[in-house]
Amino acid sequence: MLADPVADILAARAQARQSRDPYVDVCVFVTVSVSGAPEMRAIALRDIDTRGFGLLINANSPKWQQVSANGQCSLHLFWATVQRQYRVYGHLEPMEAERLQQYWERKGHASRLLEHYYEVMQPQSQPLPSREALLEGIDALKQRYPDADRVPLAASLRGVYLYPTRIDAWHGSPLDRLHDRRLFTRTDVGWSCEILVP
Ligand SMILES: Cc1cc2nc3c(=O)[nH]c(=O)nc-3n(C[C@H](O)[C@H](O)[C@H](O)COP(=O)(O)O)c2cc1C
Repeated sequence: MLADPVADILAARAQARQSRDPYVDVCVFVTVSVSGAPEMRAIALRDIDTRGFGLLINANSPKWQQVSANGQCSLHLFWATVQRQYRVYGHLEPMEAERLQQYWERKGHASRLLEHYYEVMQPQSQPLPSREALLEGIDALKQRYPDADRVPLAASLRGVYLYPTRIDAWHGSPLDRLHDRRLFTRTDVGWSCEILVP
């Protein structure tokens, strides 16, 4: 395992991508509800660098409202093809506007329209009278914005980095089950590391 856990994650992700891991660009984002219950959901994992783990989250969604209310969040990464798990703890930092715009430009038409739907029709995760109601709403937005390239960036889309302060890394050893597990804690000069019982 590398001494820098972020470099270890980048290496594992590159290997997982080579192995065509279907979840190489997915993570599980964990929050805590207002009543203190854990909540988790899969979301797209964007780029990872020294600023942290890039995520796009709609401000009208329950996950955003939860993390805004109490600041509690973590990420779970698991790439089965390379037998790697990372539990990432830290806090959210805002993403630069230019980078959010770049991610917006990579989104497909329907995905852009859905972000607008959250804003002008119904927030994410709210109940709908029917599936048709959703499709009709998206259709109305498509008439307003028929050209994918001209859909304006939805004002409620937030770009954030989860800046890691603690990473629990697990390298699976399927043959002997004696997995390599290490807890990395950020220090002023890098990362400290403790080996954990797997
Ligand atoms: C593979 C996968 C990727 C997903 N990616 C996203 C995503 O990038 N953004 C998002 O808001 N929801 C994504 N979802 C849906 C979320 O898991 C979740 O249903 C939704 O964000 C609502 O969560 P909330 O009610 O906790 O806010 C994805 C689901 C799956 C299965």
